[in-house]
Amino acid sequence: MKIKSLFISNKIKQIALTALALISFTYNLHAQAGDPANGEKLFRSNCASCHFPDKDMTGPALKGARQRWIDNSSEEQFYAWVKNSSTVIAGGDTYAAGLKSKWKSVMTAVNVTNEDIDDIFAYVEAYTPPVSVTPTDPAGPKVETESSSLYWWLLAGLLVIVISVVAGVRGNLAALARKKDGEEEQEQLTIGESARSWAWKNRGWFGVTVFVTIVLLLAMGMTKWLELGVYEDYKPEQPIAYSHELHAGTLEIDCKYCHNAVTKSKYATIPTVNVCMNCHKTVNEGTTTGTTEIAKIYEAAGYDPVKKEYTGVTKPIKWVKVHTLPDHVYFNHSQHVVAGGVDCKQCHGNMKKQTVGKVMTTEELNNVGVTDEDYEENAIKFTKPTLTMGWCIECHRQSSVDIANAPAGSYYEMIHKRLLLDKKTYQKYLEDDMVTVGELGGLECAKCHY
Ligand code: HEC
Ligand code: HEC
Ligand code: HEC
Ligand code: HEC
Ligand code: HEC
Ligand code: HEC
Repeated sequence: MKIKSLFISNKIKQIALTALALISFTYNLHAQAGDPANGEKLFRSNCASCHFPDKDMTGPALKGARQRWIDNSSEEQFYAWVKNSSTVIAGGDTYAAGLKSKWKSVMTAVNVTNEDIDDIFAYVEAYTPPVSVTPTDPAGPKVETESSSLYWWLLAGLLVIVISVVAGVRGNLAALARKKDGEEEQEQLTIGESARSWAWKNRGWFGVTVFVTIVLLLAMGMTKWLELGVYEDYKPEQPIAYSHELHAGTLEIDCKYCHNAVTKSKYATIPTVNVCMNCHKTVNEGTTTGTTEIAKIYEAAGYDPVKKEYTGVTKPIKWVKVHTLPDHVYFNHSQHVVAGGVDCKQCHGNMKKQTVGKVMTTEELNNVGVTDEDYEENAIKFTKPTLTMGWCIECHRQSSVDIANAPAGSYYEMIHKRLLLDKKTYQKYLEDDMVTVGELGGLECAKCHY
């Protein structure tokens, strides 16, 4: 009995062990396979700023990295490394120490699980570089001048009138000359005199022409005047073929990484060349422009890519300013982005689809999230041209401020307390179920004008 039961329990143990081995084998198989689609997403958001799958950048090419760890250290150490390389280095792993001394820069700790790492490497190992790359903009960014076409039409119309008037004067002069008896007399008549006498004879037609000309000139002035300060659709050429589509779109670099003053100050600011050099010290080649455009970054930073050292001779990049408000207007980024919680895309549209900076048209702002899938739809829809006074006002009329939950001691908390004492006004504000920026003073001239 005893022997038999021991035998059985041994048998059970054996079966259990094989089952366990099988399970763990299939589990490992599954784990190692990974999901390349999810891996691509994780790679782009966590690793692409320093690694290419197949080329060295700030860090080494990741293809074959798992095998390198298995050969030189262990697979557990490989997982541990990706999660937090410093602990592996601190633990005395010789392969890790070698990596550190070779690459010098430190890999930041990333919050990923083993399954995430398997997914990432499933993507990395399967990665093949894109075969044919068609540059979207071979001649570089273009300047768009659509908005002035009306002006040119009017100018053309005016030119036609001037030509016909001149032709009319000349024809009449000739007729006048024929009527006169002598050649001498014709030559004595100055052009001014004959034009005047012609104009008097044809005063009906002349009056109409002058009237039309004046109206056209006025209309031209009006449209120019109305266009004053309208920069919609403005996309000037820039000194370097920089692309938001690549950096903010494909590489998913946060807007604030480059425009890093936007949460702290009035200005968003354009990044200095040092920000570019964080990556471009090692990325010396692009898929569409090769080395030519990145060479301009080196020139600006005073960096010799061959000797890999700074020469000290710098030459600032002259980016062309795209958005401009007149000097008499006060606009503050951090107030809108931080206090107001307004997203960049509400005022700047989908920059992930643009090469260089551009003043978006009203239509482009309204279409964010409607005709592209990158973003959610913008809450505020505009009718007035971007950057005009009407545009600011329109948004202040529609944007709400959650004054009931304003932080203690803040400006809006103070307003809320005051409104609680003035129930009538508060109720009037709340007729549309919200308190708007406009109702709280956002339409007062002095708020926006110095
Ligand atoms: C801030 C830059 C940076 C980021 C982000 C980064 N790495 Fe690294 N990585 C490095 C550097 C630099 C090295 C070279 C070793 C060192 O100096 O730390 C490295 C080394 C590695 C290695 C060892 C390569 C080998 O040849 O053995 C692996 C594996 C690795 N990284 C995976 C990842 C993964 C996966 C991610 C994303 C989850 C990632 N890294 C994100 C900078 C980075
Ligand atoms: C966080 C890293 C990072 C920063 C910061 C960065 N870049 Fe890049 N950039 C890259 C990578 C990666 C590529 C290569 C992508 C490719 O073409 O495969 C690249 C490519 C480029 C290219 C070539 C594009 C092509 O396809 O030919 C240009 C030009 C460029 N960057 C300009 C800039 C400028 C200017 C700045 C600073 C304002 C900057 N980059 C900042 C990572 C960065
Ligand atoms: C997308 C909507 C939107 C647009 C467009 C917009 N604003 Fe605002 N603005 C807001 C919001 C929301 C606030 C409230 C911020 C807060 O909570 O402090 C605000 C607040 C302000 C304030 C402070 C008002 C106060 O009562 O203290 C000023 C000044 C201002 N904006 C100026 C401008 C100017 C100038 C423009 C146009 C160039 C503009 N804004 C365009 C949404 C907008
Ligand atoms: C409420 C609308 C609004 C929002 C939200 C907004 N901007 Fe702007 N942005 C503007 C206006 C208006 C200007 C022109 C300012 C001027 O000329 O003084 C501008 C100018 C800029 C400039 C040119 C440099 C400068 O500081 O004048 C950059 C870069 C920029 N914005 C980036 C951003 C980024 C990045 C975000 C999101 C974090 C953002 N903006 C959010 C309205 C906005
Ligand atoms: C890698 C750095 C980088 C990142 C990331 C980046 N930008 Fe820019 N941005 C630039 C540079 C350089 C310029 C100046 C050249 C130009 O106008 O394109 C610029 C220009 C702009 C301008 C026009 C500035 C002006 O002169 O009025 C706007 C608006 C802008 N960026 C918005 C954004 C938004 C929104 C994002 C995030 C979706 C973003 N940027 C991400 C580098 C960056
Ligand atoms: C929410 C912000 C805002 C408020 C409030 C505001 N303005 Fe403006 N105003 C602007 C902006 C922005 C411009 C520049 C528009 C442009 O360049 O097209 C402007 C331009 C002007 C101009 C110059 C006209 C022009 O075409 O350049 C005058 C005059 C003016 N505002 C008067 C006023 C008066 C009067 C008030 C109060 C009743 C007022 N503004 C309230 C934002 C504002």
